[in-house]
Amino acid sequence: MPTKVVTLAELRGHTTKDNIWVLLHGNVYDVTKFIDEHPGGDEVILSEAGKDATEAFEDVGHSDEARALLPGMLIGEFEKGTNETKAKSYQSTAAAAAMENAVEQTSNVFYFVPLAAIVAYFAWRFYS
Ligand code: HEM
Repeated sequence: MPTKVVTLAELRGHTTKDNIWVLLHGNVYDVTKFIDEHPGGDEVILSEAGKDATEAFEDVGHSDEARALLPGMLIGEFEKGTNETKAKSYQSTAAAAAMENAVEQTSNVFYFVPLAAIVAYFAWRFYS
């Protein structure tokens, strides 16, 4: 069981080939020693350095053998309460918050527009 809790800042501090961590399924792994042996090459892992690599890892459909290597590289659990999607990009916290806000507002608009159309339709039916 992982005991150490890794913060987002710590994760992001390990992005070079000689010191590289990735986040997979909520756990942080040190893949520094493995990267040269990776059958998929070092580039693909480097591009996920310091980020949530879960999606990239799962998209490839890694084998059980590949998964079995993970416990040996485990550093610890990613800090709880941190939105893991934020780790996917290098946005600052403020930028990420602004982004979330924009997404929220957009979905409000998508909700409001059809509603307004329905109201307008019934108003038209009623008055004509
Ligand atoms: C960090 C932990 C990782 C481990 C332990 C790992 C391990 C492996 C292993 C053992 C294979 C050989 C095929 C298999 O057994 O499934 C493989 C293939 C591959 N991996 Fe990873 N991998 C990791 C991360 C990643 C990431 C983050 C990517 C991202 C994009 C990636 C992309 C690939 C690709 C494209 C192949 C296919 C290579 C080929 O078939 O020619 N891997 N990996």
